[in-house]
Amino acid sequence: MNVHEVIGEVLQKIRPTEEERAFIEGLMVELRGLAEETIESSGLDVKPYFVGSLAKDTYLAGDHDIDLFLAFPLETPLEELRKEGLELGKAIAKKLDSYDIAYAEHPYVRARYKGVSVDLVPCYDVKSWKDVKTAVDRSILHTEWVNENIKGKNDEVRLLKRFLKGINAYGSEIYVRGFSGYLAEILVIKYGSFLDVLKNADFMLRQKVIDPGNWLKHEYETAMNTVRREAEEDRPLIVIDPVDPRRNVAANLSWEKYGRFYFKAQAFLENPSTGFFFLEKPREGDYLEELRRKGAHLVTLIFGKPNLIDDLLLPQLEKSARGFEKVLAREGFGVLGWEVGHSEGKAFIMLELDRIERERVRIKPGPEFFTERGLDFYRKNERVWLKGKRLYAEKVVKESVTDVITELLEKNQVSLGKNLRETIKGADILIDYVPKNLEVEAYLFLSRKKEGLKV
Ligand code: UTP
Ligand code: MN
Repeated sequence: MNVHEVIGEVLQKIRPTEEERAFIEGLMVELRGLAEETIESSGLDVKPYFVGSLAKDTYLAGDHDIDLFLAFPLETPLEELRKEGLELGKAIAKKLDSYDIAYAEHPYVRARYKGVSVDLVPCYDVKSWKDVKTAVDRSILHTEWVNENIKGKNDEVRLLKRFLKGINAYGSEIYVRGFSGYLAEILVIKYGSFLDVLKNADFMLRQKVIDPGNWLKHEYETAMNTVRREAEEDRPLIVIDPVDPRRNVAANLSWEKYGRFYFKAQAFLENPSTGFFFLEKPREGDYLEELRRKGAHLVTLIFGKPNLIDDLLLPQLEKSARGFEKVLAREGFGVLGWEVGHSEGKAFIMLELDRIERERVRIKPGPEFFTERGLDFYRKNERVWLKGKRLYAEKVVKESVTDVITELLEKNQVSLGKNLRETIKGADILIDYVPKNLEVEAYLFLSRKKEGLKV
């Protein structure tokens, strides 16, 4: 298949059908009506806005999360916005199928309606970046900017988003650190098409700064501050937000995820196939075999998963894994890699080590030298000396990594995620063995198939 045939086939799968569009549009009309009537009867001065990929027509077929933002006047005090916003969200959600409260910078309502998840998010009705007060306020401006500039290239964005998902580089959540949907939109708008974005993977990196809003012309000082700050942080890309010169849209993009994109873009252009767009399950293997091949060892800590969302839990698990990596290295164990996650209500930290035992010299006090046992002690030990009338010797002892970890935890010498400190102390420590439900995870980790660039 040539590249255009590949793209054609992928588009068939990711472009929403007319039927799907009609369903979504109907849903949005209905929700807007419900929101307006609830706002009306609450007497609040709030405007509903749809944001996110549905409002920008850049959603992938079958992916229907609706973001309905409830915009309060700028004069509203933050406390009032939080309180009234949540109440209003609940009042709207009561007319839908069901709802929960979700927590971000401020709490919001996550409802379900006709099988679709609907976020009802309070924010300020900002007209410019100078008005932005909370993290979500820019979304309305993003939606407007994309809709004004996308010029019919919506399917190109869909292709790029699907490609990034397929190569495991999509999502700006802290535990993913990949490309956000908004970044994908900006890149397509800047370079013109999906293929042009791929062709520019190397150029972009060298150019480093992308400024689609021309802020370096109109708002030089502010934009330059962003460039300097982000360069200092050594980001792979600095994309000055076209709606806010203070922000790098790619601030959460890691070198690893940009690197995946870099290699996969080249590989796709050389040898296009639909496989790039749809994450193939890596072929599974035996983690014990993998350990033998590498001559390495696997230490797994398993403990109860605290009741936290992934956005909070995963960074804490990662922090803890890095904590173990650091102290274990200091204690003489080579840490070859680590992995964290959770499964079936348990959280885990896996550490790949070059050894699970270390040798230590201990000072062993012996008997008095002029006794029979003293003579015996003298004969049996290599390095012996006297302190007063008592004999002493050096003794080489083996310490297991389990004992070392237990002791480090008892003495609070491992830097751990703040909600995990207590639970990790009670962790089960498994050596070169994992329970059934973690076997695949252990294999993918040890074989590096999870992050491998060539699989
Ligand atoms: P989403 O992550 O839902 O992105 O954020 P999206 O554009 O709707 O894409 P998909 O199809 O669901 O994956 C919704 C809005 O929040 C802002 C953007 O304005 C985005 O449109 N946002 C989110 C950011 O600006 N940066 C981020 O890292 C995440
Ligand atoms: Mn979305």
